[in-house]
Amino acid sequence: MNHSLVLAARPSGLPKKTDFAIVEQPIPQAGEGQIVVRNAFASLDPALRQRMTLEDSYVKRIELGESLSATTVGTVVESRHPRFAKGDHVVGHHTISDYSVSDVAPTTRHVSPQVAALSNHLSILGMTGLTAYFGILRVGRISQGETVLVSAAAGAVGSIVGQIARLRGCRVIGIAGSPEKARRLIDEFRYDGAIDYRGLDLAGLTAAIRQQAPDGVDVYFDNVGGIQLDAALDCLRNNGRVALCGLISQYNSANPSVTLHNLFKVIARSICIQGFIVRSYADEFEAAAAELAQWVERGDIRFREQIVEGLEQAPEAFLHLFSGANDGKLMVRLAG
Ligand SMILES: NC(=O)c1ccc[n+]([C@@H]2O[C@H](COP(=O)([O-])OP(=O)(O)OC[C@H]3O[C@@H](n4cnc5c(N)ncnc54)[C@H](OP(=O)(O)O)[C@@H]3O)[C@@H](O)[C@H]2O)c1
Repeated sequence: MNHSLVLAARPSGLPKKTDFAIVEQPIPQAGEGQIVVRNAFASLDPALRQRMTLEDSYVKRIELGESLSATTVGTVVESRHPRFAKGDHVVGHHTISDYSVSDVAPTTRHVSPQVAALSNHLSILGMTGLTAYFGILRVGRISQGETVLVSAAAGAVGSIVGQIARLRGCRVIGIAGSPEKARRLIDEFRYDGAIDYRGLDLAGLTAAIRQQAPDGVDVYFDNVGGIQLDAALDCLRNNGRVALCGLISQYNSANPSVTLHNLFKVIARSICIQGFIVRSYADEFEAAAAELAQWVERGDIRFREQIVEGLEQAPEAFLHLFSGANDGKLMVRLAG
């Protein structure tokens, strides 16, 4: 039998464990052009919270009783698709289940357990590393000598962003949510400066950024929004860039009311704010993952993974993304 994580109730505010349920169904079979994947790991991403309620997002809202879905990595156990054979290892957007039936999207791709552990294809070599890679290089368009500021900097995406920026010769400052995370930014992820934002209001955070970057910030990579975005806008230099990756501070709010006191600075300093979705770069995933793998092999990039065991643990672990209790790329180990 197959076990899937489904949406039991639409959350209002922070989800509760009762908003999720596990259902048992027969193992699916592949139709023409489809594959069935026995999943080894499923990624637990902040964006899943959006898809539990938001109707007009870039991906379809999840209906009540429907399986939650995410990027998973696993083994093909049945194939009726010419590009995939039984036994292949694949990454793709699938249900969070022991087994998923997949139509094979452009983002479904082969991965090799010889290159890296399967879980790494969801973290550093998967959407997490790729988001950091394309976000900071293509959207942030960083150059040597620039000052880069990153929010949720000790998190899965943020920790990779800072390290790529340092590899490109930038000075990197991170914002994170505890003294331990701030220390980790310096000691483990080799940031040049770190700020613990807890307890700081807009003025306090702005002052802390100015202290770390007295000549201003060239590129701000935003995972958070809210006060962090507002403070960063105040500290950006002329022609500064914002790579808008995520707005996690508002994902649990039904009607987020965001006041940006510093929005006029975008005009006054010719600042460019650009949002992006990593899957827009799907054609280039292979090349980018190969470069990330090289950096890891050379010891130039460090990353953390937090793996919880089994579907039962997934709802509680998912909530850690919003309290900051997750420790690296969060994923759940499944049957595969
Ligand atoms: N655009 C894309 O294609 C794309 C793809 C993947 C991910 N993303 C976005 O990237 C961001 C990071 O995702 P991730 O998977 O790497 O997660 P993560 O950073 O590993 O975990 C989320 C972190 O966000 C911080 N956070 C949570 N609630 C917050 C709040 N209310 N205010 C301030 N900080 C808060 C916490 O860190 P602290 O303890 O430091 O507060 C938490 O650990 C998310 O916004 C996600 O939606 C975008």
